[in-house]
Amino acid sequence: MRVLIIHASELATPIGTSARKGAAMRAVTIIKNAGVLIEDGVIRCVGPTADVLAAERALGPSPDTLTISAEGKTLTPGYVDSHTHFVYGGDRADEFVQRLEGVPYMEIMARGGGIASTTRATRNATEEELETVGLDRLKVMLRYGVTTVEGKSGYGLDEATELKQLEVMKRLSAVQPVEIVRTFMGAHATPAEYKGREDEFIDFMIYRVMPKVAEARLAEYVDIFCEKNVFDVAQARRYFEAAAKLGLQTRIHAEEIVNLGGAQLAAEMGSASADHLLQINDDGIRALAASNTIATLLPATAFCLREHYAPARRMIDSGCAVALASDYNPGSCHTQSIPLVISLAALYMAMTCEEILTALTLNGAASLKRADHIGSLEAGKQADLIIHACPTFRHVIYSVAENTVEAVFKNGRRKTQ
Ligand code: NIG
Ligand code: FE
Repeated sequence: MRVLIIHASELATPIGTSARKGAAMRAVTIIKNAGVLIEDGVIRCVGPTADVLAAERALGPSPDTLTISAEGKTLTPGYVDSHTHFVYGGDRADEFVQRLEGVPYMEIMARGGGIASTTRATRNATEEELETVGLDRLKVMLRYGVTTVEGKSGYGLDEATELKQLEVMKRLSAVQPVEIVRTFMGAHATPAEYKGREDEFIDFMIYRVMPKVAEARLAEYVDIFCEKNVFDVAQARRYFEAAAKLGLQTRIHAEEIVNLGGAQLAAEMGSASADHLLQINDDGIRALAASNTIATLLPATAFCLREHYAPARRMIDSGCAVALASDYNPGSCHTQSIPLVISLAALYMAMTCEEILTALTLNGAASLKRADHIGSLEAGKQADLIIHACPTFRHVIYSVAENTVEAVFKNGRRKTQ
């Protein structure tokens, strides 16, 4: 199957097969009157329409060529949403209202709500129920242009339900087009039955659950909520050491509400990503800038918690590789809106249009160790791309909180109208 997209008013993409750090995040390639030639799901040529048409002729005739004119439209890589918690039972609308009335997020958690409340609902949900709601959420992601998503467990906090969440994601991978990268987050919170025995709970996850996850290849990553009154840095270190022995890579929720130094731990241990970072300090920024760990920023969470935003500008200017993601979850961030993430990054985090594009594509892909084949529009990469209903990438950013996505291609196949 051959697909030829031509006459796009603009194509915008970062270039490369690894994360772009610091000023290099702004090195986005812009091509006017652009085209893309795709064959069998792989990009064969990207360039001005004339070059792409010539490349198509050079390939020789094909029995099934789909030609699309993208006049007045913008082409970008598909978005990589590298941090979500999209498989969960129930909802937390009541808690949202409590937060509107002024009760802090961690206070709700301390009262037995928050993650614990979603854990109860997720334990009670059947696999089929989780699959149904998960599928609905994946459809929303696709409409926002997300072609690869990371999804975490962490609403089971027991063996059966943690595995159930990961199994559901595995099954969802087979029935819809968005690629799902699975993360085991058994250390999301301490469940009621282990209250006050956090170390024992971490041991349970390390010795009982994590080996099963690794053996069944249910996850590529582990994640931990390293936060005051949740898990400390020493516990995160033990959890990461156990993951490394099992061949699992690591990610961390760090410096979200209180700074504990989780960013430094991530850098030291070679984690793929350190996420949130609202409270990161200069030491943390220096450590990430000197490492290969991606700094994944989640502005929709800061917005929903009414916290100040992570210091993206300082981080990029210090040489960090920044990614942006939704953090979609039922509590701290009940939105899947990529347009909201883009708007917040532009308006409140002082990220440039080019940095935002790199953060949502190539750097997100790098944080999932997939930058060798997704995250940019280049010959040889997988054909995951978006056609936006506007003439330049700047118009994507200018369309505040609006979805500009008109069509999405995954593996070279059109998945939306
Ligand atoms: O990324 N901070 C911890 N975990 C999620 C929130 C989970 C929840 O509230 O259910 C986060 O913000
Ligand atoms: Fe999260």
